[in-house]
Amino acid sequence: MNIKERRTIRKYTQQPIPNELLNRLIEEAARTQTMGNLQLYSVVVTKSAEMKRKLAPAHFNQPMVTEAPVVITVCADFRRTTDWCEFRNAVPGYNNLLSFMNAATDALLYTQTFCNLAEEEGLGVCFLGTTIYMPQQIIEVLDLPKLVFPVATLTVGWPDEKPALTDRLPMKSFVHEETYQPYTDQSINQFYANKEALEENKHFVEINGKETLAQVFTDIRYTKKDNELMSQGLLDTLLRQDFIKPDSTPMFSVVETRPEILECDVVRFQNKKEKWVAFVGLLDNLPYEIFTGLMDDEEGIALPKSVTSGRIIKHVDRDGQKRYDFQFINKRGYKTTIEGLSEKFSPEYWDYAKLISGVLRYRMPIDHVIRLVTSLQLEKDNINSWKVGVARVLRKYLPGSQEEELLDEE
Ligand SMILES: Cc1cc2nc3c(=O)[nH]c(=O)nc-3n(C[C@H](O)[C@H](O)[C@H](O)COP(=O)(O)O)c2cc1C
Repeated sequence: MNIKERRTIRKYTQQPIPNELLNRLIEEAARTQTMGNLQLYSVVVTKSAEMKRKLAPAHFNQPMVTEAPVVITVCADFRRTTDWCEFRNAVPGYNNLLSFMNAATDALLYTQTFCNLAEEEGLGVCFLGTTIYMPQQIIEVLDLPKLVFPVATLTVGWPDEKPALTDRLPMKSFVHEETYQPYTDQSINQFYANKEALEENKHFVEINGKETLAQVFTDIRYTKKDNELMSQGLLDTLLRQDFIKPDSTPMFSVVETRPEILECDVVRFQNKKEKWVAFVGLLDNLPYEIFTGLMDDEEGIALPKSVTSGRIIKHVDRDGQKRYDFQFINKRGYKTTIEGLSEKFSPEYWDYAKLISGVLRYRMPIDHVIRLVTSLQLEKDNINSWKVGVARVLRKYLPGSQEEELLDEE
C-alpha cells in the first residue's frame, strides 16, 4: 500500500481475520528493532465478545473495541526479562522509569510495525490512545502483572469504510535544519493556515462556540484538567506496576532555577486596618514565591484596584544584582511595570519572603507551609502581621479552597 493512501479505519466488516494471517503478522512484527534485542513487550490478543466488552469502558466505549474482530493490547513488558534474569542467577534492575521508557519504546515500535504489515495485507487498523488514560482498568481486565504496562491498543479488521484522507502540516513546519528554529506568529500562521481553513475544522469551531481551532483542542478535546487528572492516574499506576517508586511521583517536579518570568496572582488583604498586598509567583498553578508588604505605605506599592494578576520578572544586571519587577496589563490594555518589588517592601519582609519562597520552591505541601509560617515565633508586631497575612494568602492555594474568601475584605 502506498503510504500516501493510508488512513485510520474505524469500521470493519463481519469477516473474521484468519488465524494464520493474524499470527503471521504478530510474528513478523517482531522483526522490528528492539533494545538490547530483549523484546521488551507483550501482546495480548482479544477476540472474545466478552473480553472486548470488558475492555470497552477503559477506552471510553469507543465502538471499535466491541465491533472489531480483533483487539490487540501492546504492553511495555520488563516482567519476562526480569523473570529470566532471576531464574538465571542474574540480579535485574528494571523497576525504574528508564526501563519503563525503554519498554514503552519497544512496545510502540512493535505496534507501528504491526500496523504497517497489517495495512499492507489490506487490513484496517485504529490506534487507541485511550490505553494510557485509564491503564489500571486495562491491567485488571487483562491480569497484567507488575512490570507490565499497557501502552497501545489496536482495533483490527477488514475495512468497511474509506474515510477521506486527513490533512498534515507542511514538512517545513516540523523540520529544523541543524538547530531548532523557534516558531513565530508569522510561521504559525503559515503552517496552520491550511488546517484552520478546512471546512470541517471551521465547523468544529462554530458548533463548539469557540474563536479558534486551537481552543477546540485546549477547551474541549484535550483539556488541562483531564490531562492533569489522567497524569496522576498514570503515575499511580506506574507506581503500582513497580516501574516507579513513591518518592519519584510528585505531580509537579522541582524547578530549582527560577524562570525569568512567572505568572502571578495579586492578593490584597487587611490586617488590623492596614492594607496589605501579596504577589504570589506561580509555577504549574502552584505558589513558587511570595512577596508581601504594606500597600498604602508611601514607600509601598500603589496598584489600581482592578489588578488581580500579572507577571513577576526577574532581572539580573551586569554586576549580578537581582531585581524583581511586577508587570500588569491596565484597564486600557497597556503594559505597566513596577520596578524593584524588593525595594518597595521592608527588608525584613523581604528576607522572610525569601525563606518562604525557598520552601515553596521545593514543593512542601501548602498546608505544611501554612503551619510552618504560623508557628514562627516573631517578636515585632509588624512582622506578626506579615506572618498572619502570608498564611492567609497561602490558604487560597489549598486544594479545593474558596478563592474569593480573601478578596471579600477589600
Ligand atoms: C497516540 C494516538 C492516539 C490515538 N487515539 C485514538 C483514539 O483513541 N480513537 C480514535 O478513533 N483514533 C485515535 N487515533 C487515530 C488518530 O485519530 C488518527 O491517526 C489521526 O486523526 C490521523 O488520521 P489518519 O490516521 O486517518 O491519517 C490515535 C492515534 C495516535 C497516534
